[in-house]
Amino acid sequence: MFDTMTVTKAGGALCGSLLVFLLGNWAASALYATNAGGHGGEVHQAYVIDTGAGEEAAPAEEGPDFATLFAEADAAAGEKVFAKCKACHKVDGANATGPHLDGVVDRNKGSVDGFGYSDAMKSHASEQWTAENLNAFLTNPKAYIPGNKMSFAGLPKPQDRANLIKYLSTLGG
Ligand code: HEC
Repeated sequence: MFDTMTVTKAGGALCGSLLVFLLGNWAASALYATNAGGHGGEVHQAYVIDTGAGEEAAPAEEGPDFATLFAEADAAAGEKVFAKCKACHKVDGANATGPHLDGVVDRNKGSVDGFGYSDAMKSHASEQWTAENLNAFLTNPKAYIPGNKMSFAGLPKPQDRANLIKYLSTLGG
């Protein structure tokens, strides 16, 4: 006849060996997983989704910011860049394909009398042109004011924009 003690011991032994079995199983699978790639224990993903995490946040543009460029900008160099605008813009108070640009810095957007602005430009008439937002506009006119009718792709070089805006800021209104 089994007494209670024998039953308890047998049960304990059974649980013990089950635990050892489970631990062994876990150890084996852990070992297997780390060796799955077969290359020095590194697991190779089939593909990697790039979340961008861990990479340095790249600035949109290399180099100094606009305020720095503008502070050191060269109006004479800007006058040369203005050659790209001359086909459409005058700086003597007369409108052409585009509105005259003398005094455009600190002028309200779309506010030159007698010029037929697009509705897109007119919808910004309560805002002023500043050196900063001219920089944004001239980087990509269509992106800055979608639907405006200035057919110009933009000036990609930050230095050109800073020099040009400096030049524009020297012109009276
Ligand atoms: C192909 C002709 C054309 C060229 C080139 C051009 N523009 Fe324009 N520009 C326009 C037109 C047209 C408008 C009016 C846009 C509207 O009403 O939607 C305009 C509007 C503007 C305005 C807004 C003026 C205001 O009164 O609100 C600025 C600032 C401006 N242009 C600057 C420039 C500069 C600086 C250049 C050269 C880098 C340039 N543009 C090149 C045709 C041109």
